[in-house]
Amino acid sequence: EKTSLWGGRFAGGPADALARLSVSVQFDWRLAPYDIAGSRAHARVLAAAGLLDPDELGQMLAALDDLEAACASGEFRPTIDDEDVHTALERGLLERLGALGGKLRAGRSRNDQVATDLRLYMRDHARGVAQAVVELADALTEQAANNVNTAAPGMTHVQHAQPVTFGHWLLAHVQPLLRDLDRLRDWDARTAISPLGSGALAGSSLPLDPAAVAKELGFTAPAPNSMDAVADRDFVAEFLFITSLIGVHLSRLGEEVVLWTSTEFGWVELDDAFATGSSIMPQKKNADIAELARGKSGRLIGGLVTVLTMLKGLPLTYDRDMQEDKEPVFDAIETLELLLPALAGMISTMTVRVDRLTAAAPVGFSLATEVADWLVRKGVPFRDAHEITGKLVALCSVRECELEDLTDDDLKTVSEHLDPSVRQILTVESALAARTTPGSTGPGPVAEQLAQVQHHLDTW
Ligand code: ARG
Repeated sequence: EKTSLWGGRFAGGPADALARLSVSVQFDWRLAPYDIAGSRAHARVLAAAGLLDPDELGQMLAALDDLEAACASGEFRPTIDDEDVHTALERGLLERLGALGGKLRAGRSRNDQVATDLRLYMRDHARGVAQAVVELADALTEQAANNVNTAAPGMTHVQHAQPVTFGHWLLAHVQPLLRDLDRLRDWDARTAISPLGSGALAGSSLPLDPAAVAKELGFTAPAPNSMDAVADRDFVAEFLFITSLIGVHLSRLGEEVVLWTSTEFGWVELDDAFATGSSIMPQKKNADIAELARGKSGRLIGGLVTVLTMLKGLPLTYDRDMQEDKEPVFDAIETLELLLPALAGMISTMTVRVDRLTAAAPVGFSLATEVADWLVRKGVPFRDAHEITGKLVALCSVRECELEDLTDDDLKTVSEHLDPSVRQILTVESALAARTTPGSTGPGPVAEQLAQVQHHLDTW
């Protein structure tokens, strides 16, 4: 006989097609340990309310412990007839306790139960995701520390723009990750609200103690509105936004690694253990991790869109549509749990080709802005300085030479404001050293930034 949670008013069991559509245990089984934790807390408040006597509570808690161990060992498994994790676990409890097992459902519905389980699962796993983000940020920061003085051609539009240090560039990938960590922390504070006690939607006529349950489960407070508590999936949507944004950040980093490791750039070489080969071209060494980072951001964003689209227009309170909230969450967490360690390993083991970066730094007239700034310091309005420097670049393009190759006469001819001393600022070193304001790419501000980033990561 099937142990369904709701057969009383039905003449027969569900059609196979319905059962197949309805079943979620194949994915929501991940919630089992959290469901059991919730059951323990609920059993205690039922006992405190006099609805379980001390002996019954003892038996209940022992059975829950036993069931938890059986789930962990794989000895207790959901079957195809268990609609969802809650159904399966009630079956396990009934197998252990007989009729007494049926007392635990008093004052509780799957609606407040599933919302609680999911919050618990997500808060727990978000900590693991955050830790993996920290490890990637650490790897980038360590490479940055080794490249505080490595010149690189900073780009806009993938065109050489102005020289930067590669350390500054790498830290520019750390900063978004630090914001993601802060976002996860903010999210956790908002998610630490306990739905248990809300029942199906209206709360309970039994003398439950939602605050005690909340405390036992590590939540900061019980939900202020039972209808909202079972209808709310903001915590899912918000989490999926954060994981999507992390995905976007990893994708942008991945795209740059693909560029940096190309023959044309040749700025970075990947460690053999973090690169892949080709089945036909023996010479190939591909940045598959970086490409998978780029690719997997798509499914992370897809999960966010799935949940927002599912929620929009849903009437309060619980609707079965909401069962669709879980797979995107599990997928986002599991995707990041796979991706982040691979990226961290790839970054921490890559070799930075300092020679190639340094050689590329001044290419493409990336020091032209230095000339314009030099003119500004002489009192020339920037508008004119820009025009004068542009003329110098045009002349170099015709002559196929660099700015420092122009003769004293060339300089005079282009502008009366120019003189040979301008050549002193036409080096990458002086361009970098001149950038002393906070947040700039000069060695001083980068060292300061590095210390702040390291502190942020160490105290996370
Ligand atoms: N498996 C369901 C879900 O994930 C649990 C809640 C079911 N509640 C209900 N009233 N059918 O949403």
